[in-house]
Amino acid sequence: MKLPYAESYKIKMVEPIKLSTLEERKKWIKEAHYNVFQLKAEQVYIDLITDSGTGAMSDRQWSAMMLGDESYAGATSFFKMKDMISNITGFKYVIPTHQGRAAENVLFSCLIKEGDCIPGNSHFDTTKGHIESRKAFAIDLTIDEAKNTQLEVPFKGNVDVNKLEKYLSENADKVPFVIVTITNNTAGGQPVSMENMREVHKIAKKYNKPLLFDSARFAENAYFIKVREKGYENKTIKEICREMFSFADGMTMSAKKDAIVNMGGFIATNMEEWYEAAKLKTIVFEGYVTYGGMSGRDMNALAVGLDENTEFENLETRIKQVEYLAQRLDEFGIPYQRPAGGHAIFVDAPKVLTHVPKEEFPAQTLTVELYLEAGIRGCEIGYLLADRDPVTRENRFNGLDLLRLAIPRRVYTNNHMDVVAVALKNVYDRRETITRGVNITWEAELMRHFTVKLEPAK
Ligand code: F0G
Repeated sequence: MKLPYAESYKIKMVEPIKLSTLEERKKWIKEAHYNVFQLKAEQVYIDLITDSGTGAMSDRQWSAMMLGDESYAGATSFFKMKDMISNITGFKYVIPTHQGRAAENVLFSCLIKEGDCIPGNSHFDTTKGHIESRKAFAIDLTIDEAKNTQLEVPFKGNVDVNKLEKYLSENADKVPFVIVTITNNTAGGQPVSMENMREVHKIAKKYNKPLLFDSARFAENAYFIKVREKGYENKTIKEICREMFSFADGMTMSAKKDAIVNMGGFIATNMEEWYEAAKLKTIVFEGYVTYGGMSGRDMNALAVGLDENTEFENLETRIKQVEYLAQRLDEFGIPYQRPAGGHAIFVDAPKVLTHVPKEEFPAQTLTVELYLEAGIRGCEIGYLLADRDPVTRENRFNGLDLLRLAIPRRVYTNNHMDVVAVALKNVYDRRETITRGVNITWEAELMRHFTVKLEPAK
């Protein structure tokens, strides 16, 4: 008999978690204004709010922490991190930042001015936030297939190259750079193919525009290239990464994802001009350029995490767990963005809660229902997160409205995935009885989903 698949690690340290009662959860979610970001973590049983900074570090990462060099300038930890990043990406200039959005803040402060337009594939909310807060515009040119959750497309995160060519031919003067997010988080953790990166690079060069990769989950992207794209089956993940980054002029990185650290990020580039400009901003916003908001120990852990998580076995274990949850949802007929993404399952909320009008935020309603059902905390990647149009101030209902179940790396077992699947099935079974969603009682101007206050619609 063929041996079943099992994780490529064993567990050395555990952390207790506990299921609460329905009565408790009803009280807590009300106190949290029906916004799961406002819950206390201890009120949560299985926490799938994000895979960012929530991963379990390895024994090698923890041991590297002990060797952290906390020197203010020129720490060995910086050089260990820089060498690892340069090895994997081919970029020679590296600037640490405290997390991904800080890398965006530093770099965008140098590159974006009012009225600029930044074309790309479904910019992540912080990326969009850093663009829009500079009175510039994020232009989403993701392939149309990404909007149909039931369509099985291997590289659903791709940029539509025809749209990009057309956009640049008409607006090149307003575009400081092109951005590609790997994997495409907002479209469902969907990968971008090597071919697409090559094409985007070619078009960007034609118009003399630099290409930036938002690389939070680049290793997962490389895994999908290896298992889905012709010609890459026999390449190592590290070889694939090197080729991917050969098409970019620079990267911003949230190391809290694919480098499996709890905090950290960086900018890396071969463009001296970007590097010099970013160094100045880093010193003002983040810290001296050899630590940029990170402790030496964290830079050490980041270096080891990047090395480990650009190995096939680690990525296979991770992505197979996401696929496992997807298979369980398939058994129950629950619709999600297909195929399963690299870091999360994105449930298509309007297809589940068909009676909840869009004005009452179906995905947020489903997020609340799943929490009430079993203390599972997912997060809305939908109409709330989309914020209002900066010009008309209308809600943006034109995208997808998803409940994201993001799976932390190396934290939960497939038994936990079973609990998640069954809890969702129970909500799914009573979906006809859920006819009202939520209304906003207070919201911030930008990135409102973190702090929005809601109440059940009457
Ligand atoms: N880019 C992408 C694609 C991201 O997913 C994130 C964060 C960032 C940039 C910003 O990085 O959090 O380190 O400042 N995503 C998290 C998430 C928050 O839950 O998807 P950060």
